[in-house]
Amino acid sequence: MNKRVEQITSAIVSSLRNVLREQDVTFEEYRTAVMYMGKVAEAKELPLLIDVFLNITMCEISDAHFKGSRSDLEGPYFRSDSPFVTDEIKTMNEYNGRPTLMKGKVTDLDGKPLANTLINIWQSTPDGKYSGFHDDIPVDFYRGKVKTDDYGYYAVRCTAPVPYEIKNDGPTGALLEMIGRHTWRPAHIHYKAEKEGFRTVTTQAYFEGGDWVGDDCCDGRSDDGERVIPEKYEDGKLLIEVDFVLDAN
Ligand code: BEZ
Ligand code: FE
Repeated sequence: MNKRVEQITSAIVSSLRNVLREQDVTFEEYRTAVMYMGKVAEAKELPLLIDVFLNITMCEISDAHFKGSRSDLEGPYFRSDSPFVTDEIKTMNEYNGRPTLMKGKVTDLDGKPLANTLINIWQSTPDGKYSGFHDDIPVDFYRGKVKTDDYGYYAVRCTAPVPYEIKNDGPTGALLEMIGRHTWRPAHIHYKAEKEGFRTVTTQAYFEGGDWVGDDCCDGRSDDGERVIPEKYEDGKLLIEVDFVLDAN
């Protein structure tokens, strides 16, 4: 017997039973929902569907325990096996993306630089594909791992992300359409900062004035400005500066 699993399972069942009662759900609706979940599993969209609705709530719950950088959606497309990169994350020339410099600093809560922090960075192709998941795009495109130097700094070149439409031709898209929601996310870059002895922070950066900023179909945190970057340039490249403050474990 696993007490934690028992507690959470009982709470879920109890909440769902309340919804069935409150909404006076018919047998036909109940069976349709069961069939729907089968379709989601068949289309391999369970991680997508669940992240669309619940990932942000997990971020809020986790952040309440820490003082450093807040987290944001990881989404279903993180790969731990992306390549180490020193100066550049590989992109595809055919998209002619805007040259971009991503840089920043990692510190602890007292402002002490955290050298040798691993930062995973990933983004979609301009037509909304994630390498390692879609169209056999090799996992070394549009994603990579960088390490901070002795002073806690990291820097890597890539191209600028563009607004992203989540997969909308399957059961997840069908449900969003039925409930009157769109399927767009603002242009974003994903980050996961990892350092032994510190909280791992997964977050995202967005761009001031960008389409869908503050109106993300996945409720990511582009709505309060903290991770929304103003348009700045350095050496002719778009500059995306993202710092991390990590809590000690
Ligand atoms: C994404 O950023 O790729 C994403 C996040 C949550 C759900 C689906 C996709
Ligand atoms: Fe994404």
